[in-house]
Amino acid sequence: MSYQNPKIAETADLLKGRFAELTQKTDILKAVELRALYAEIPQLPAEERASFGQEINALRAELQQMVDEAGDVEEALSPIDVTAPFDVNTPAAERPHLLPSETGSKHPLMTELETVLDIFYRMGFNAIESREIDDDFHMFGALNFPEGHPARDDYDTFMTTQTDANGHQFIAPAHTSTMQNRVLKKYIGNLEKGEPIACLIPGRVFRNEDLDARHEHTFYQLEGVYVGKGVHAGMLIATLKTFLQEYYGKELEVKTQPFYFPFTEPSFEFALSCPFCDKKGCNVCSYSGWIELLGCGMIHPNVLRQAGINPEEYTGFAWGCGLDRLVLMKYGIEDIRHFESAKLDFLRQFA
Ligand code: DAH
Repeated sequence: MSYQNPKIAETADLLKGRFAELTQKTDILKAVELRALYAEIPQLPAEERASFGQEINALRAELQQMVDEAGDVEEALSPIDVTAPFDVNTPAAERPHLLPSETGSKHPLMTELETVLDIFYRMGFNAIESREIDDDFHMFGALNFPEGHPARDDYDTFMTTQTDANGHQFIAPAHTSTMQNRVLKKYIGNLEKGEPIACLIPGRVFRNEDLDARHEHTFYQLEGVYVGKGVHAGMLIATLKTFLQEYYGKELEVKTQPFYFPFTEPSFEFALSCPFCDKKGCNVCSYSGWIELLGCGMIHPNVLRQAGINPEEYTGFAWGCGLDRLVLMKYGIEDIRHFESAKLDFLRQFA
């Protein structure tokens, strides 16, 4: 760009020359020479002020553009936790936030999640949200899945091409159990005070599934973790039964059968009597009267140990329950894929 006014042209050359040398490129916008040009405006004859001012603005814009282009140059930033819900360096105004309520309505899953949280708050649980990208350690290592263990194959999900310091890909978590280690470590102080760890962890999870009316690649889970002295499986069953009866507003029967998860011992599959037909048989329960709802068990000693908790002293239970499933059954929704479909006809029924 060439400038008509000789003084501005001269300053432009000077500043462009200096720009190359600067390590902090934005300093060029604060140059005294640039400020001096602006300071001259009031001294000029009135008829010259406008064109002089326009040229300084043009010069400033040119310098700004040079700064913006140079911004692509790598800066040395301290490493951030790429699995965190958002980058903590993001200015507050640009962090993820909710849409203003006038432009939409709450998604039915979120409304139901509030109901669920309310029940667990009343039972003395606190809540921590899970995250949508996680690492190999939290997905497997902390949960007693050794490297190469076949049970890892049950959790087929999506991974990034980027790898962490240990060469493992980052993972879109296939379950909310990824949070167990974090929650146990975070609340270990409760145990020292003689209080239990009681935490509910809602979160979005991902699976490489064959999709049908009952299987979706993206859904929500409610993880529960409870650790204290003398905690036993009877408490697990009572906690889940109490929750489900509150949620469905009726008496229910529950039953467990043995199952396998690497992170619990013993592990159970937990079923409830069909809240729709009261065990008479209907299409919600495939005419069996029972609904297999979730996986649960007593937290494996290795999982407690990984978090620095002595399994000789403390025991605990955990479960992972699909939120979508609970809601499907509550409202008789016939296809799980409606939830992620963004179909307004579906959503408006819950607005
Ligand atoms: N994470 C398991 C799944 O998604 C469910 C589960 C089972 C969670 C047992 C637990 C648990 O916390 O103790 O298949």
